[in-house]
Amino acid sequence: MCGIVGYVGSREATEVVVSGLQRLEYRGYDSAGIAILNGGEFQIRRSVGKLSHLQQRLQEAPTHGHQGIGHTRWATHGGVTEVNAHPHRSASGDIVVIQNGIFENYLEQKGRLIEAGVVFESQTDTEVIAHLIERETRASGDFLSGFRRALQQIRGGNAIVAMHRRQPGLLLAARLGNAGGIVIGLGEGENFIASDIPAILDYTQRVIFLEDGEIAIVTAEAVRCERLDGTPVSKQPQTIRWDPVAAAKGGYKHFMQKEIFEQPRSITDTLHDRIDVEGGRVILDDLRLSDEQLRAIDKIYIVACGTAWHAGLVAKFLIEALARVRVEVDYGSEFRYRDPILDERTLMIAITQSGETVDTLVPMELARQAGVPCLGIVNVVGSQAARLSDGGVIYLNAGPEIAVASTKVFTCMVVAAALFALKLGEVRGCLDRATLRTYLQALLALPNQVGTILQQTAIYEQLAERYRHTRDMLFLGRGINYPIALEGALKLKEISYIHAEGYPAGEMKHGPIALIDEEMPVVCIAVRDHVYDKMLSNVEQVKTRGGEVIAIVNQGDSAVRSKADVVIEVPETLPLLSPVLTVVPLQLLSYYCALRRGADVDQPRNLAKSVTVE
Ligand code: G6P
Repeated sequence: MCGIVGYVGSREATEVVVSGLQRLEYRGYDSAGIAILNGGEFQIRRSVGKLSHLQQRLQEAPTHGHQGIGHTRWATHGGVTEVNAHPHRSASGDIVVIQNGIFENYLEQKGRLIEAGVVFESQTDTEVIAHLIERETRASGDFLSGFRRALQQIRGGNAIVAMHRRQPGLLLAARLGNAGGIVIGLGEGENFIASDIPAILDYTQRVIFLEDGEIAIVTAEAVRCERLDGTPVSKQPQTIRWDPVAAAKGGYKHFMQKEIFEQPRSITDTLHDRIDVEGGRVILDDLRLSDEQLRAIDKIYIVACGTAWHAGLVAKFLIEALARVRVEVDYGSEFRYRDPILDERTLMIAITQSGETVDTLVPMELARQAGVPCLGIVNVVGSQAARLSDGGVIYLNAGPEIAVASTKVFTCMVVAAALFALKLGEVRGCLDRATLRTYLQALLALPNQVGTILQQTAIYEQLAERYRHTRDMLFLGRGINYPIALEGALKLKEISYIHAEGYPAGEMKHGPIALIDEEMPVVCIAVRDHVYDKMLSNVEQVKTRGGEVIAIVNQGDSAVRSKADVVIEVPETLPLLSPVLTVVPLQLLSYYCALRRGADVDQPRNLAKSVTVE
């Protein structure tokens, strides 16, 4: 999704802005642009496609100056063209603007501006903002007042940054609603603006976050914040402890590969300091719900999107089994438009890697309005979801996940959900110490078990070769591994563009069985649990119809092995924790298939890492 970077100080602004945009590449985008202010004139360069195209443009026509803004665009209003790329200019060319989010009433405002004689260059909503600020700046005689007045006329969720060519040294940034965050990086004699922390981490770790309806007035020497009506706001800087080097590929060919292989470490980091095996206790320091509140809950809504939603489905099995609380799992985009029953005994759990997915943030906001506490399972520290989680946050501590297709964060989400389920089960008296200890020991064994799976990659290379022309693939699982079938199918389609469907295996006979023939490989997750025998019959049903079975089984399995065409073994753990292991072969399968098919593994077409629009 769109990325924003701004800089004012004594460095070459182009370098700071472009390096920041580079750090945001993982968000996904279709065009990029920058504007640098120098000697009262803007130097604007824009181009369609990857950032390297913009960099090439900058080599041909370099820009110089100590103040600038840059943007990577993910098209929402208007096609992917250079004219629609940001920054956008006001009619006189005095003001440039970049924006992330959606300006809901832009057509109405655009209509008024056209009536007043403004001629538009692009089809974007952002250009409307540039003209609005110019009109209001003229009317009020001052850029800051004009910026404020223009923003008061905008409905939607936006992050906006603007510069005026007759106001050198000044950047204005604002956040409206929840669609796009703004972080201000604080330096010595220089300051930074960005949509995401990684964009500025090379320069500073001291940051402040803007909240809904706040403006930052940024110069090289100072940052001042106020509300849209001009009331000053005092903000406490925070220190972010991410190491920028950790975000680099570290010898792997792709970020996705690196992130798959990082799982033993990331799972360890999620568990770190949260487990007391001797005492049979889970320690969740950041939980802001008292034991009394946890005991009173009689309904949990989990909201999430994409891969995080699959983690939510796994969490439902965990919480229902270990803590005996009813759980419903919703897509964020659905929850907000139905009429869910929220009362004082409800808890919401929001699961999100980025903490910026608007479809997840809106249900959280609805919960807040209804007085329902929300617990966040979040990776990005200080993200909007983390800040909206009034019931506390379980940070995944997985480090930055760069590849668009989520892998390490998924396993960490499941582990975090297991920790919460155990804590809830303990507090509600559903689990005795011995059971808790068994689970805690099993959790601690997971990193090593994942490592064992990661040692065998030859099989996936062979499978990728075998299925490189395959058009469809089916994934089946039961119980807590049914969400893993969904996740396996999602991974494969996202990055290799092979059409894939995930199903609870019991549903196969109600539809997908019609598709099974020699052309349809079927991945069956058949680990030893209470539905193992049922899976075995599903494997037989596929074989009877000529399908090819790739089975994910426990080490030493013989029954499924005798029937399947390909067998991939995973170590045995407690059945409720098995998704952490069964998903890993499916991640590897999709990675190697995408690699074999020559796809852009880290930045699959049309997808974005963090989706901040509806
Ligand atoms: C996008 C990404 C997915 C991700 C989903 C939810 O669709 O491509 O990989 O699972 O958003 O993102 P979140 O940051 O909320 O976990």
